[in-house]
Amino acid sequence: MTADKDWRALNRANWNERVGIHLKAPGYDLAPLRAGCGRLNAIEEAELGDVSGLRVLHLQCHFGADTLCLAQRGATVVGLDFSPAAIDAANALAAELGLTGRARFVCADLYDAPSAIPEAASFDLVYVTWGATCWLPDIRRWAEIVAGFLKPGGRFYYADGHPAALVLDDLVPQPDGMPGFFAPYLDRRALTFDDPSDYADPEARLQNSRNVSWLHPLSDIVTGLIDAGLSLDWLHEHAQVPWRMFRILVQRDDGDWHWPDRPWLPLAMSLQASRRC
Ligand SMILES: C[S@@+](CC[C@H](N)C(=O)[O-])C[C@H]1O[C@@H](n2cnc3c(N)ncnc32)[C@H](O)[C@@H]1O
Repeated sequence: MTADKDWRALNRANWNERVGIHLKAPGYDLAPLRAGCGRLNAIEEAELGDVSGLRVLHLQCHFGADTLCLAQRGATVVGLDFSPAAIDAANALAAELGLTGRARFVCADLYDAPSAIPEAASFDLVYVTWGATCWLPDIRRWAEIVAGFLKPGGRFYYADGHPAALVLDDLVPQPDGMPGFFAPYLDRRALTFDDPSDYADPEARLQNSRNVSWLHPLSDIVTGLIDAGLSLDWLHEHAQVPWRMFRILVQRDDGDWHWPDRPWLPLAMSLQASRRC
């Protein structure tokens, strides 16, 4: 079996291992959440708005830190992730924070979400952020699943690395330290890696280092959502991103990583889209 066909098993093992690392990692500071006032990253803090009273579905919720932050703000939340270790940690964190009454976590693959959460057209907000769609081979089916969970008029919030920046990486940098080309933007084929490093803990070395990902062009994401029954409310491009996407980026007071000089390319994108009635 090629890595391509093995993508789900490889990625699940990779993400299971990352959970234990992330629960202790400097990149995931759980102190504000434990103090009752969890924080999102700068971009979604500025864009998301009030979630109090909303029924929220958080897809690819990892170990639930953002899900529980939304619950602390008065939302009733369901988080879904395919990593059993992530869902166990999310349930433990919900219990620790006294949020089990308004937070539920489901262990399932994204593509099995409609049967794992048989609650079609019942959410006010579907929430997906940071490092999510790159793990999914079929972006059109993803968009249909997102749309299927939204009430008519419900909204979808999405923030992730900008596909234009994802063509670059630090493997073969340019002479001035800028990232070099790494993946063709419109290629769409699976990208297989053997990479033991972790974005949240520079010291960590993963045993389950093989993984498979996809670079989805911006037009595939937006058109997929429109074809699935959503209307685009807005689309933003940002010259900052919440993790150190490239070594040359510098961290500013907002906690995000920015280009050191000029905003060469967007590093992140975000959008809001609403379910057509
Ligand atoms: C980078 S993390 C998302 C981070 C999250 N936004 C946060 O705030 O911590 C990506 C998540 O996607 C999950 N994932 C990857 N492929 C998946 C799939 N096919 N189905 C469901 N979850 C998946 C991983 O287990 C992981 O928790």
